[in-house]
Amino acid sequence: MPLDSFGREIDYLRISIIDHCNLRCVYCMPLSGLKFSTSGDLLSATELERVARAALAVGFRKFRLTGGEPTLRPDLLEIVERIGRLPGTHDLAMTTNGILLPHLAKRLKTAGLRRVNIHLDTLHPGRLQRVMRFGTLEEIWAGIQAAEAANLTPLKLNVVVTRGYNDEDVVDLAQLTLEHDWSVRFIELMPLGGGECARVALSQYVSNRDTKERIEQSLGPLSLLPDQHPADESLNYRLPKARGIIGMISPVSQPYCGNCNRMRLTADGKFHLCLLNDDELDVRTAIRNGSSDEMIGKTLLRAVGAKPTGHHLERGVSTEDRNMYQLGG
Ligand code: GTP
Ligand code: 5AD
Ligand code: SF4
Repeated sequence: MPLDSFGREIDYLRISIIDHCNLRCVYCMPLSGLKFSTSGDLLSATELERVARAALAVGFRKFRLTGGEPTLRPDLLEIVERIGRLPGTHDLAMTTNGILLPHLAKRLKTAGLRRVNIHLDTLHPGRLQRVMRFGTLEEIWAGIQAAEAANLTPLKLNVVVTRGYNDEDVVDLAQLTLEHDWSVRFIELMPLGGGECARVALSQYVSNRDTKERIEQSLGPLSLLPDQHPADESLNYRLPKARGIIGMISPVSQPYCGNCNRMRLTADGKFHLCLLNDDELDVRTAIRNGSSDEMIGKTLLRAVGAKPTGHHLERGVSTEDRNMYQLGG
């Protein structure tokens, strides 16, 4: 397994396949001033397969497709098929807002996708429109049901807690785990990109300590689950008698950089070394100049070797060049 210069085992590649999205969450995508990649900038399905094959050859085992919104990519099924059939892939998952899943979920499963994580900030239709701006609760809910019907499981819901937008909804969302065997994960806001969304993230941040307290006051004590995987950035709990799991992803108040196991590939073909830093290593040029799979693997190992120790949000440092919609979380 590839080791970085701090001895961390890096075997999880998050592959952003597109930087467009059909929503505009207030902390992720501004309404104007967006700079999208052109289709020629994006890695093609064949190029993505080559990176994944090279990654497997150097010891990567886990892949996740992200965006923007990955379901907007017209050749998504081909990408899933190409990566899913590579020998050695232990996990192939996708993070999505779910809106297009009703007509895609079954075909994605057949193509080789194992599971999805779906982004849903609130169960209140009006507040959903305020925080996620486009799209409706019915659409996302239909996507969740389609994912479950297609066995894209275990299903995880990602909730980004934003003061004044959805912080009062965390109890209703946590309550979903009483009836459903889903993971509902509450994520602390991170400021990326230095613009309007970073300002929202800084001013509307809610610590997961507050979110946890709010849930416990209404629904009872959360018991920490014993079998935590060290590289899982989510601390997992269960409510009394619940079927599902409550996860707390706390990159700001409890950074887990020491256990980081991930590398990112941007839609325009750069290895992005750490979510909250701008350091990148171009791989698209190497691919388009005829590099062998072995050379692509070496570029990936160089990226792993150059991973920074972690983020420095506590000193006000984050990305300036890249926004969340270009990195996919
Ligand atoms: P699982 O394999 O199901 O555990 O998925 P995951 O949690 O790795 O993927 P997902 O895309 O659902 O990530 C959830 C959220 O956690 C992301 O959207 C980010 O907000 C945050 N996150 C994921 N990876 C990192 C990371 O390396 N650093 C930081 N600071 N936050 C991250
Ligand atoms: N801070 C934390 N998480 C975020 N996401 C998007 N923007 C932010 C942010 N500023 C999460 C969403 C989505 C994933 C791609 O990233 O939950 O599922
Ligand atoms: Fe789209 Fe996800 Fe960003 Fe929301 S968080 S705008 S759904 S990419």
